[in-house]
Amino acid sequence: MESKNKILLYGASGHSKVLISIAESENMLIEGIFDDFSTHSHLGGYPIIGNYSDELLLELPLVIAIGDNNIRKKIAFSALHEFTQLIHKSTVIDETVRVGKGSVVIHNSIIQRDAIVGDHCIINSNSSIDHDCNLGDFVHISPSATLCGNVKVGDGTHIGAGATVIPNIKIGKWCVIGAGAVITKDIPDFSFVVGIPGKVIKTFNNDKN
Ligand SMILES: CC(C)(COP(=O)(O)OP(=O)(O)OC[C@H]1O[C@@H](n2cnc3c(N)ncnc32)[C@H](O)[C@@H]1OP(=O)(O)O)[C@@H](O)C(=O)NCCC(=O)NCCS
Repeated sequence: MESKNKILLYGASGHSKVLISIAESENMLIEGIFDDFSTHSHLGGYPIIGNYSDELLLELPLVIAIGDNNIRKKIAFSALHEFTQLIHKSTVIDETVRVGKGSVVIHNSIIQRDAIVGDHCIINSNSSIDHDCNLGDFVHISPSATLCGNVKVGDGTHIGAGATVIPNIKIGKWCVIGAGAVITKDIPDFSFVVGIPGKVIKTFNNDKN
């Protein structure tokens, strides 16, 4: 019988359910799910094994199953397990694309030629990242968002569901782009942007990043 690759998840949330779906489709076995707050014993049939510990199953690779970019970053810098990727078989990823460690590429998304995706990113369902895009680390591209060609996205930025970014735009780090926004101009670091065309309606305090 073929033995399954074993992995661990960190975070027992709705996002984890999606990652479980990917792991199952790739014939991986989730040996356990770390979670610092859950009061449940299982998620999707897999055991929740309590607070993160680097003394537990250190030989297995880990994926951080937490949607918040800032929390993912903190865990990535503190956890000692090796990180692995989860990529659903329905995705289309050009062979020239580089996807960093710990990143997940969720059902039906497309990443085109010469794009780069950093570490611990979430490329969510049905999103489209066109040629030559360059995404930093801890980026989340939400479901059905579209990045046209040669878009740059800085570390930690969250692009909301269904947002569209026209070609050659540079979006700074730790920005939030609201669902459905259309980004037609470069966006500075730490901006909160909504609307069509997208307008900066506030700037985040950058202390925590
Ligand atoms: C942008 C967003 C993060 C704002 O959330 P928030 O910090 O709670 O902000 P608020 O809801 O208080 O909204 C602030 C203002 O922006 C407006 N606004 C919020 N989201 C907006 C959007 N997507 N498009 C247009 N305007 C929006 C609100 O109406 C409000 O305007 P007002 O001050 O005139 O009333 C959120 O609305 C959003 O779009 N999130 C994306 C979620 C997503 O895609 N998740 C994917 C998970 S997989």
